[in-house]
Amino acid sequence: MSKITQVVIPVAGLGTRFLPATKAIPKEMITLVDKPLIQYVVEEAAEAGIKDVILVTHSSKGSIENHFDQNIELEANLEAKGKNKLLEIAQTTCPNGVNIIAVRQPQAHGLGHAVYCASPVIGQNDFAVILPDVLLHNDNTPDLKSMIERFENTGHSQIMVEPVPMSEVSNYGVADIQGEELSKGESKPMIAMVEKPAPEQAPSNLSVTGRYILSNRCMQILETTEKCHTGEVQLTTAIDALMKEETVEAYHLAGQSYDCGNKQGYLQATVEFGLRHPDLKDTFAEYLKNHV
Ligand code: UTP
Repeated sequence: MSKITQVVIPVAGLGTRFLPATKAIPKEMITLVDKPLIQYVVEEAAEAGIKDVILVTHSSKGSIENHFDQNIELEANLEAKGKNKLLEIAQTTCPNGVNIIAVRQPQAHGLGHAVYCASPVIGQNDFAVILPDVLLHNDNTPDLKSMIERFENTGHSQIMVEPVPMSEVSNYGVADIQGEELSKGESKPMIAMVEKPAPEQAPSNLSVTGRYILSNRCMQILETTEKCHTGEVQLTTAIDALMKEETVEAYHLAGQSYDCGNKQGYLQATVEFGLRHPDLKDTFAEYLKNHV
């Protein structure tokens, strides 16, 4: 088992649920209050101790890499005008000590395929995966950090889950933890992950929520994972195979998640992140009071 210092962030998908916004702009570059979604998750990774962020990207998504690179012209301009606060903001889009590494997924062949595209960088290491349209908030220990600690203490891969109404399970991948109770912040062994089950067949109401800590064996399994009926390689299929060889645990999110890949979730996140923003929270709360 290796320490978790690398995260794979797949950003090569088409973002069709967010059209027309995503026709010419990557979904991950859509702004929530004052930062693009991708910056929130890179900051989350840095806070959890990640050193290498491996973006699995596509030719149409160059702006994501540019966002974390230096913009010399902009910086020179801000410096000349003495706009030091803005200069600092422009210079710190990439957290200190974090390397941004980009690999390509030439075509969107599914999440499992996207993760496998990072294998030359991951090598023999265990690794994290973050789906960048899911943002998390936790006033206490960040959940990704807790998952990494659990993995490093036990060697068991961790899959983040959270409860959803039973009537909605057919929209999600659902964890089978053999009817066990799972409290917030706790992990328990999982025996299967069921994709979009009918409510009467669902093994639980615990949906998989966009954060994974995976043993390197999962990468090896992805190498030979077959495409499903849609022609995509699913990460779920590889994790299911992993469970047959090693203990994989469901980790119950302790904080709050926001699915910014769909319009309703994105709007909710905008309101809540706005109400937490240090410079805006008071005026925005006042505005909402008068307009809702
Ligand atoms: P989603 O299915 O939620 O994202 O995949 P999508 O394909 O961009 O969006 P919709 O469903 O069409 O609206 C979860 C994550 O996996 C990435 C996506 O970029 C997203 O961050 N992904 C998905 C890839 O990188 N490659 C793929 O082939 C599929």
